[in-house]
Order: sequence, then structure tokens, then C-alpha cells
Amino acid sequence: MEKIIDENKQGEHLILEEKKENTRKLYIESYGCAMNFSDSEIVASILSSEGFNTTAHLEEADLVLVNTCSIRDKAEQTVRKRLQKYNAVKKINPNMKVGVLGCMAERLKSKFLEEEKIVDLVVGPDAYKDLPNLIAEVDEGRDAVNVILSKDETYGDISPVRLNTNGVTAFVSITRGCDNMCTFCVVPFTRGRERSRDPQSIIEEVNDLWNKGYKEITLLGQNVDSYLWYGGGLKKDFEKASELQKATAVNFSNLLELCAKAQPKMRIRFSTSNPQDMTLDVVETMAKYRNICNYIHLPVQSGSDRILKEMNRQHTVEEYKTLIDNIRRIIPDCGISQDMITGFPTETEADHQDTLSLMDYVKYDFGYMFAYSERPGTLAERKMEDDVPEPIKKRRLAEIVDLQQKHSAYRTQQHLGKVEEVLIEKSSKKSDAHWAGRNSQNTMVVFPKAHYKVGDFVNVKITDCTSATLIGEAVGYSENN
Ligand code: SAH
Ligand code: F3S
Repeated sequence: MEKIIDENKQGEHLILEEKKENTRKLYIESYGCAMNFSDSEIVASILSSEGFNTTAHLEEADLVLVNTCSIRDKAEQTVRKRLQKYNAVKKINPNMKVGVLGCMAERLKSKFLEEEKIVDLVVGPDAYKDLPNLIAEVDEGRDAVNVILSKDETYGDISPVRLNTNGVTAFVSITRGCDNMCTFCVVPFTRGRERSRDPQSIIEEVNDLWNKGYKEITLLGQNVDSYLWYGGGLKKDFEKASELQKATAVNFSNLLELCAKAQPKMRIRFSTSNPQDMTLDVVETMAKYRNICNYIHLPVQSGSDRILKEMNRQHTVEEYKTLIDNIRRIIPDCGISQDMITGFPTETEADHQDTLSLMDYVKYDFGYMFAYSERPGTLAERKMEDDVPEPIKKRRLAEIVDLQQKHSAYRTQQHLGKVEEVLIEKSSKKSDAHWAGRNSQNTMVVFPKAHYKVGDFVNVKITDCTSATLIGEAVGYSENN
């Protein structure tokens, strides 16, 4: 099961191929969402041209960077513990410099330099290009901080080095930031206003990935449906664009089509969709191209209209259900997953029951469920009391997790007996004799290796399943191979 915040990857360090001429050592560790992991690749690329080779050993690093997440309090606590660990290492290796990147850097800014003396460098998610200058400052003995959210920083012109990946699937960032201002969410404060990347540079990256042997890309953004390119500029300024800019603008469904056509054999996915911004032309484009996968991650957070309003989600339960109905009408076998939050301020037992009944209606393939965690600076923190007691949040969370488990089991069973195309990504975690890859709906499939190899598109007959994984046997290469 692929997670948006993949628990297995938290704290992973990145290793790139060494450059002989590089003399300094970088240890870089990442937390949080797929975008953070993708950003770390960009940072490592920038620093590789600045004389740094990556290392797997914290103790020998000249520079330690931690790419951080602020989405829930727990994520921040984990990083604080890591900072204590770095501090201990710094006592043995006093020349080591420590930098905080990502959302915590943006959220806590100079507090890190002032109060947590162990940090030498603080760099928010939109100042990575400035890293070489900041490191030069630190080398000269100054503390360096750069957390200014720039208006149009999208890193279109830096191609990330991707070396410790599986070589088959890659993330491609298409938007940064978010303008939606859901009242619980810290993202608009840590990643700034929404801006889109030039489609030309996206297509170039997709072509380049294909030439390097990649077979699947995921277009990445906090809210991909909101993608809009009209020659640069913020989404919110589109109204002020010229008539020509408006007439030639590229929206998300146009971008999907451009990618699908550029590489007709490349599998294309995207994440994350937002119900208020997702339009049916996106679903129709998905249906039109066989290389766009039939899978939509469509977070809803709650099944209660009243709570959705308090969350400022800009849609009702009815509208969400209509969107789901339309998706299923246009793509009957579309995989759909959710994000849910339990225990948002004022959530009653009746609101919670509404969430359970929405889940029964949709029967999601899988989901990512969280207990509400109050985030400093958000509207909910300023205007609402975090009034649902922790044990109640936990109990409601357990109930929705349980229900999701049942729905996942129901959904995986629907695949039994079918032959489905799987892209082989890696060996199965449980058995070295089996491959693991995903079908179009994003469900993991494992099957005996036979003569196939990583990167092959294979037709697999599904013979068995758990609630998260399909088990089968390869019956030959797919026509895409
Ligand atoms: N559109 C984004 C959403 C970012 S946050 C994306 O998925 O890329 C990811 C998920 O974290 C949200 O959908 C929400 O379910 C959860 N989340 C965000 N803020 C939260 C909070 N304050 N407490 C608990 N969960 C939260
Ligand atoms: Fe956060 Fe809502 Fe945007 S969840 S990332 S503010 S769509």
C-alpha cells in the first residue's frame, strides 16, 4: 500500500553516486510527504555541484540536513528527537554543521537558530536554490536562515538526481503550495501560495525519465487539480492575465493529456486531488488514455456537512458523493482512496456516524486516517477549542480504521480471477522469490518471479488476496511492454 506519508520511509537517508572531485560529506534525512522526499533529491543535486558527496554515516558528515514535516505534532516531535541525536554527534565532531529544511524550518524560522543552539542553518521549502550561499555563510561562521516563501520558486530547471530509487517509478513536482486554507492545515503557511510549473519543463523531465528507463511517474502537488499555467505567476492572479494568456493557459487535464501523449507507454499517476477543485474533464482525460492509471486519491476528511464547513472544505457530502458517482460512471473500475481526520473540534458522535456512512457509501480501496492534531497558526487553532478528548478521538479513529479494513478486504476481493497489468517495482518484502508491483488501481500485487525483471509490464492473474495485497501468477508480458 503506497502511502502519501509513507511510514516505512520516514527518516530514510538519501545516497547518491559519488563524484571524485567532491571532498565534503553530506548526510541528508527526510520526513513527511512525497514532496519532501522529492525535494531532498533536488537539494542533494544542488549540493553535489557544490562539492558534497552523500554519506550513510551521520558521524562522518560535514553537513547534516534534515528535511522536516509539520503536518501533525507527532512529526515535529520525531525531528526534535533527531536534533538531540545530532547534537550528541556534534560533541564528537565539532566541525559538523546541522541544517533544518522543509516545513518546520518555515514554521519555526529563527527560533531554531536562537533557542536550539545546535542548528546552524534553517532553509524553508522555497529557498533551496539559495543553499550554496547559505552554506558559504555558515562556513564563515555565521548562522544562516532563509525561509522567505518566494512567489514563483518551482525548481523547473533543476533536475533531481535519482539514484537510490527503484529506477522504475519517480515523482515529478508540478505545483507547490496551496491556496485552499483548510482550517486544520499548516501547509498554506509552510509552503505558501499556490504556483504551477511550466508544462514544457515538466514534459522535458518526463521524457528524460523515460530515456533513463523509468516506467511510471506520479505528478505531485498539494492540490494537483488546481494546476494552472498561463506563463508564470500565482494561481490567484490568473484573473489579471491577458486575453492571450487566458486563451493559451494549460490546466490540469491539459497537462495530463500532454504527459500521456509525450510518452504513451509511461504510466502516469497523480497526487493529491481535492474534491473542490477536481473537475470531470480530468476524469474524462483519464478514461481517454490507457497509460493514465485508474486511481484517484481523493481526501474528504469528514462525512459531516457541518464539520466540512468548519474545516472550510468548500464542498458538501452530497457534492462529494456526486463526484464519486461520476468517477465510477466514467471509469467503473477506478481505485479511490481517502484521508480522514477524527476528532476535529466540535465533532459529535452524530458527525462521526456520518463519516462512517460516507465510508460505507464509497467503500474506499484504502485510506490514511489521522486523529486531529492542533497546529499552531492555523485558523482552527486560533478560533476553535481542541475539545474532543484524546480517548474519544482515538476510539473514533479505531472505528474508521476498522471499517476501512473491511472495505479494503471487499475491494481486493473484487480483483480475484481477473488478469491485471502490473509494473514490477521490486522484490516482495516477504519473499525474495516474488516480485511486487502495482496494478492500475494502485493496489500492490505479488507473484512468483519466473523469468521477469524489474521494470517489466506483466499480466498477472489474481488468485488470492489479503485486505492490502493481491497475490497472483504472471501469465505473460502485457501489450505495454
Ligand atoms: N492535499 C494534501 C493534503 C496535505 S496534508 C496532500 O495530501 O498532499 C495530508 C493529510 O494530512 C490531510 O489530508 C489530512 O487528512 C491530514 N492532516 C492535515 N492536517 C492535519 C491535522 N492538523 N491533524 C490531523 N491530520 C491532518
Ligand atoms: Fe492542506 Fe487543504 Fe491545501 S488539506 S494542503 S489546505 S487542500
